[in-house]
Amino acid sequence: MASSSTFSIILGILQATIFLISIARTVTVADPSPLASEAIATVESGWWCNYSNNASERCQWPGISCNTARSIIQIDISDAPNIEVGDRFGKLNFSSFPNLVLLDLSDRQLGGKIPHQIGNLSALKHLDLSHCGLSGELPPSLGNLTQLEYLDLSYNYNINGSIPPQLGNLVNLVSLNLSWTSLSGNIPPFLGLLANLRHLLLDRFQFDDGNNTIPQNLWNLRGLETLSLSRCGIVGPIPSALGQLLNLKYLRLGGNKINGSIPFEVGFLSNLTYLYLYNNKLVGSIPSALGQLLNLKSLFLSGNKMNGSIPSEVGFLSNLTYFYASNNRLVGLIPFSLYQLTNLENLSLDNNQLEGSIPQNIEKLMNIKVLSITNNSFTGHIPLALCRLTNLEYIGLGNNQISGSIPSCIGNLSNLYTLELDSNLLKGPIPEEIGRLFHLSNLNLSFNQLSGSVPILSATKLRIIDAGNNCNKISPDPFEGNSHLSPYMCPSPVTNKANSSTILYYINIFLPIAIFFTFSILGYFLFSRFKLKNNRVGVQPTKNGDLCSIWNYDGKIAYEDIVAATEDFDFRYCIGVGGYGSVYRAQLPCGKVVALKKLHRLEDENPAFDKSFRNEIKFLTEIRHRSIVKLHGFCLHRRSMFLIYEYMEKGSLFCNLRDEVEAVEMDWTKRVEIIKGIAHALSYLHYDCSPPIVHRDISSNNVLLNSSFEAFVADFGTAKMLDLESSNQTIIVGTCGYVAPELAYTLVVTEKCDVYIFGVVALETLMGKHPEELLSWLSSPTSLVNMRLIDVLDNRLPLPTSQLVAQNLVRIATLAFACLNPQPKSRPTMKKVCEEFLCGQTSLGVPLRMISLLQLVNCEMHIGGKTGTCNV
Ligand SMILES: *[C@@H]1O[C@H](CO)[C@@H](O)[C@H](O)[C@H]1NC(C)=O
Ligand SMILES: *[C@@H]1O[C@H](CO)[C@@H](O)[C@H](O)[C@H]1NC(C)=O
Ligand SMILES: *[C@@H]1O[C@H](CO)[C@@H](O)[C@H](O)[C@H]1NC(C)=O
Ligand SMILES: *[C@@H]1O[C@H](CO)[C@@H](O)[C@H](O)[C@H]1NC(C)=O
Ligand SMILES: *[C@@H]1O[C@H](CO)[C@@H](O)[C@H](O)[C@H]1NC(C)=O
Ligand SMILES: *[C@@H]1O[C@H](CO)[C@@H](O)[C@H](O)[C@H]1NC(C)=O
Ligand SMILES: *[C@@H]1O[C@H](CO)[C@@H](O)[C@H](O)[C@H]1NC(C)=O
Ligand SMILES: *[C@@H]1O[C@H](CO)[C@@H](O)[C@H](O)[C@H]1NC(C)=O
Ligand SMILES: *[C@@H]1O[C@H](CO)[C@@H](O)[C@H](O)[C@H]1NC(C)=O
Ligand SMILES: *[C@@H]1O[C@H](CO)[C@@H](O)[C@H](O)[C@H]1NC(C)=O
Repeated sequence: MASSSTFSIILGILQATIFLISIARTVTVADPSPLASEAIATVESGWWCNYSNNASERCQWPGISCNTARSIIQIDISDAPNIEVGDRFGKLNFSSFPNLVLLDLSDRQLGGKIPHQIGNLSALKHLDLSHCGLSGELPPSLGNLTQLEYLDLSYNYNINGSIPPQLGNLVNLVSLNLSWTSLSGNIPPFLGLLANLRHLLLDRFQFDDGNNTIPQNLWNLRGLETLSLSRCGIVGPIPSALGQLLNLKYLRLGGNKINGSIPFEVGFLSNLTYLYLYNNKLVGSIPSALGQLLNLKSLFLSGNKMNGSIPSEVGFLSNLTYFYASNNRLVGLIPFSLYQLTNLENLSLDNNQLEGSIPQNIEKLMNIKVLSITNNSFTGHIPLALCRLTNLEYIGLGNNQISGSIPSCIGNLSNLYTLELDSNLLKGPIPEEIGRLFHLSNLNLSFNQLSGSVPILSATKLRIIDAGNNCNKISPDPFEGNSHLSPYMCPSPVTNKANSSTILYYINIFLPIAIFFTFSILGYFLFSRFKLKNNRVGVQPTKNGDLCSIWNYDGKIAYEDIVAATEDFDFRYCIGVGGYGSVYRAQLPCGKVVALKKLHRLEDENPAFDKSFRNEIKFLTEIRHRSIVKLHGFCLHRRSMFLIYEYMEKGSLFCNLRDEVEAVEMDWTKRVEIIKGIAHALSYLHYDCSPPIVHRDISSNNVLLNSSFEAFVADFGTAKMLDLESSNQTIIVGTCGYVAPELAYTLVVTEKCDVYIFGVVALETLMGKHPEELLSWLSSPTSLVNMRLIDVLDNRLPLPTSQLVAQNLVRIATLAFACLNPQPKSRPTMKKVCEEFLCGQTSLGVPLRMISLLQLVNCEMHIGGKTGTCNV
């Protein structure tokens, strides 16, 4: 009995349990528990579609963190790969995450507007949607996120409209970053009531009511550590109330229209570390109260109208690393105390009216890299002590009244890459030690009273060019305007004398070749020796993933500065769009103008491009050739990437050839030099780099011109180290119309592909347009028999009158056709092409008018000497 009753009880319990479970099931379906709806919402969002659809494992999905009750508290996919949000942002059911505290989608391309339903994330404390490509107006429902402490919507350039007043409800906000959007209106006064605010960033906020002042009550935010209002169009003076913000560390007010003088109350801000007031309309003198800011590291005052002298109190700022006060009206002496700033790396005081001499004491600035004081009234000698500052990379003393001689110990400054001493009163010889400065790529000693002879500069990276008449010179001439300097050792002009003396004739041919080879070999050895040492890219990313470096400018230039300089990549600053990204003209806070290559967003997301970016950096840091565009630095900001190049005033060869005015200004002599410059750059890449480098993407778009139409090869985005062991098989890169024909059937890229494209670009430069048609005729050369060279030359220019120029055109056309040989093996090497340029001229024999293209293709015109390209 007992056992049967026990049995029935157990049975009853079992039945009851089964019943309860089935009830629970029905309940689950009818009214899902918070956990269940969280699971449904996570799956339905589609963000994790590449992961198992088994939602009970969602706490292990990338980017998701749960609490102990297995409810989602964080979604941070900023660094998680393989998550596809895209346009599914709005698909998330924001009402289903009652415990979500953190949502970080930064750097994911979302597009579209911020969904209204985001206001349903009632527990949210941290929202980061920076760099998401969002647009449209901010939803007022953001004001429902009353727990929010951190809100970052920065760098969504198309978010517009005004700041909704509902944000005034976010009383817990600690950090509000709305910089670099298109928000406009007035800075709402309610921000001044957010008592917990420590970081307020509104850079590029656009006032649109003409009342461009900062609301008074903002100065009551006593807890502020960051106040960033660059490029907001703020007018009026800095109020003395600024002195109340005792916790400020970052104060950025650059690029506004702030006038008046810097109030002395700024000296109260003892925690201030970065003070950016550049490019405003500040007047008055630099307040001595700045000397109280003992934590100051960066002081940017350039581009104002400040006068008076530099106060000696600046010498108290023992942590000062960057001091920029260029482009002001400062007078008087540099205070002696400034030479005690042992941490100073960059001192830029160009374009002022400072005077006095550089003291021996300068040797205490042992970390200085950039000393730039051009365009002032400095006098006295160059102190020997300068030679002990071995970190120096940039010395700019041009346009002063410095006298005495150039100390030979300057050859000890092995990191020096710029030495500008032009337009001073320097006398005596040029120390030959300068020729040992391996990195030297900018030298300007012009307009002094130097005497003696020009030293041998072959160990430097100065551009040695063939100046015609077999004379090798540096371009631009760093020695001009020194009347006592003996001229370059150039042989006398060739034209007729070559015939009169065979010895001279052979000297004319072989000396330049010998010099060229010596340079190449020397360059090669030095290059390979120094390559290992040249390891300057070792910059640590900041917490934000911000990794920026501009050599000789600022070891840690902020991404914000780059954005500020281009007004967040406003198209007004865009100077070109290439296959790999847009190029912008940017003036940095120090006044320097650079070209920024911003890689297209789509490409950023492709790891191959990331790799190509790093390749380009690695490669370009090791290259300094006068016909290759100089890389000043780079910037990796999470997934935005920039290369910072030397700025080329005239832009690309392509644009200049298409511009009616520029094309005419670019006369035959200039065009010849442009083609030679390209040839030298390619020869350098192919023969003087180890391993050799194939550019792969030369085109007239990638050849840039400076103000004097000198050519510089750019854009090594696709350059791949030519690894001689591997097969060099790759996908075809290169620009349409500039691809060697063999790439159509083999995928093997060799330096002969560059040679082919050089031929195309050379013809394009002579013809003023892409030689498309001509290239198609080349396959049946007989069709060229009736075509004369002058028929294809750019008809916007008059035919050359000088025999020398005519010879050069024929020589280039002949070389170009040789380079276009369909057989890669039959094309000359770039080295050969360059040698050909160095060869003596022989007169044409027939008038230019008579020369047919067929003659050029068949190499009937005798150009150069016995080393002629035609017998290759
Ligand atoms: C889902 O995952 C849970 C836990 O890992 C596992 O027990 C269950 O069997 C899975 N369900 C399916 C349908 O794969
Ligand atoms: C996700 O999966 C789809 C289809 O399975 C695929 O096309 C896509 O590339 C994947 N996305 C990622 C980021 O792996
Ligand atoms: C979103 O979730 C909430 C609560 O979980 C639910 O009431 C609502 O129906 C869901 N909305 C959609 C469109 O699924
Ligand atoms: C979610 O937001 C919408 C409007 O954005 C609102 O109407 C709705 O009541 C909210 N839902 C919940 C569950 O809070
Ligand atoms: C914000 O919250 C209020 C209640 O506090 C609610 O009435 C309103 O619908 C919410 N707005 C949005 C846009 O979600
Ligand atoms: C915001 O930009 C969109 C286009 O992107 C435009 O249609 C809309 O009118 C703009 N809104 C304001 C307030 O300017
Ligand atoms: C926005 O500002 C905050 C606070 O200064 C900062 O931590 C964050 O990195 C900024 N966001 C971006 C994308 O730079
Ligand atoms: C303009 O600025 C003044 C002074 O800062 C202020 O009193 C006034 O309210 C502002 N006007 C508007 C429309 O914001
Ligand atoms: C300055 O910084 C220090 C350390 O970060 C901090 O303790 C202090 O409160 C800050 N504020 C002032 C006014 O010194
Ligand atoms: C300089 O900076 C260091 C840390 O970077 C700090 O410890 C030191 O206190 C600073 N010096 C002064 C005078 O504030």
